[in-house]
Amino acid sequence: MLLQWRNFLKDKRLPPGSMGWPFLGETLKLYTQNPNTFFSKRLKRYGSIFKTHILGCPCVMISNPEAVKVVLVSRANLFKPTYPRSKEMMIGPEAIFFHHGDYHSRLKKLFQTSFLPCAIKGSISDIEHIVLKFLPSWENTSTINTLEEMKKFAFDVAMLSVFGGQLLPEVLTETIKQLYHCLDKGYNSMPFNLPGTPFRKAMKARKVLNETLMRVIAENKRRMEISSSSSKKQQQSGGLLEVLLAGSSSKDHQHHQKPNYDQLSDSQVADNIIGVIFAARDTTASTITWILKYLHDNQDILYKVTREQEVIRRRRRIEENRGLTWEDTRRMPLTSRVIQETLRRASVLSFTFRETVKDLEFEGYLIPKGWKVLPLFRSIHHCEDFFPQPEKFDPSRFKVPPRPNTYLPFGNGIHSCPGNELAKLEMLIFLHHLTTTYRWEVVGDDDGIQYSPFPVPKGGLPIRVTSTMMNI
Ligand code: HEM
Repeated sequence: MLLQWRNFLKDKRLPPGSMGWPFLGETLKLYTQNPNTFFSKRLKRYGSIFKTHILGCPCVMISNPEAVKVVLVSRANLFKPTYPRSKEMMIGPEAIFFHHGDYHSRLKKLFQTSFLPCAIKGSISDIEHIVLKFLPSWENTSTINTLEEMKKFAFDVAMLSVFGGQLLPEVLTETIKQLYHCLDKGYNSMPFNLPGTPFRKAMKARKVLNETLMRVIAENKRRMEISSSSSKKQQQSGGLLEVLLAGSSSKDHQHHQKPNYDQLSDSQVADNIIGVIFAARDTTASTITWILKYLHDNQDILYKVTREQEVIRRRRRIEENRGLTWEDTRRMPLTSRVIQETLRRASVLSFTFRETVKDLEFEGYLIPKGWKVLPLFRSIHHCEDFFPQPEKFDPSRFKVPPRPNTYLPFGNGIHSCPGNELAKLEMLIFLHHLTTTYRWEVVGDDDGIQYSPFPVPKGGLPIRVTSTMMNI
């Protein structure tokens, strides 16, 4: 059997590359060194499409923009998303990112409806409220851990995007927070379902979280029924939950029909709520943490960003101290480029996974059915042909749009990120208040990176924050 496998791997039609040791493959090499070194060594040796063997799976890694487009966009139906079973169990098997085909496109339309600019515009003052609750709490603390704080911030915004403006009772929000925290702790642990392991604890928390969400869903359905039958239609509070419920079952509610074949069940809705918090929190938190690091290290850019934000703050003050508006956030070109450059330079989602649904002829190579295919976003973002001096933090490079398919912080094609506008909006609002009112010093001088699992500044970037209000 092993011999057969070895002989098969000699097939000249497979992409070049080494499959490493039997069973182990190159897993240890990938996980015991900086992943960038792993990718760039192989890129140099084998070119932009190479094979390897990671975590028990044969893989093909791709860092050629056109080939990545084929995987994610033009022949996306032949490359389905793939995650370890343990991760599916933890987030919920009905969550959007595990699916392909009709169920996925139906969900995707609902997600997009919920996160379109016209839908998220209305949440600016709520996001601002969250920011203004956070920042002052940093002032009286000697050192804060940026990553941990930004996780709390991104969690609150994710909750807002799911439940809209409606106020969940504080105790319920706190319960969801605690349960999610416990789930998250087990997410990156070894999937051993034994008493006392983080995995077992996380699965238990997931069960309770699911039950809690089921109650919230039932309550919302009741509320929506009352408001649709009452002559005085109540103002809808928005949020993904309402869109998922309205998009899935309103017909059945109103006409008492049998469930429609494509109606979302309550557990499908619950899985997608957990899924969206999962997709939104650590990605956004890691990106903001990097922004603070890069601005701290590039004081000239921080100065210019502050000037840009102060112009907006002055206008807000003149106009009766109003809050930020959507139009304000469209007048932040430099701050937006700082976000774009951070997404490139830090590439928090270094790659994604797909799996071939059949044997494929791909760019002159054979990729057998069931092999994993990994588009390497980070390698493309760090290729000097597309981004000269790739290690330099240089927002001005985005004055010119990047070449097609070379800038993929939010992916591409049918699985691309529906939350990208919300992510950028919350970062702009956060940066407006941070830069116009505070300065921060990084504590300790370590420039290292840690993988948790996204790349983040070492130790989560401990900082000391001071208010500049006294100087104004
Ligand atoms: C800086 C922050 C973020 C980054 C870098 C990011 C990045 C990405 C990427 C690269 C994908 C595609 C993955 C793939 O093709 O396999 C994705 C998918 C997704 N993202 Fe984001 N994301 C961010 C924030 C958010 C936010 C705030 C939300 C929601 C509120 C969100 C919701 C989702 C969802 C639901 C998917 C799955 C889409 C699908 O499978 O069709 N993301 N994200």
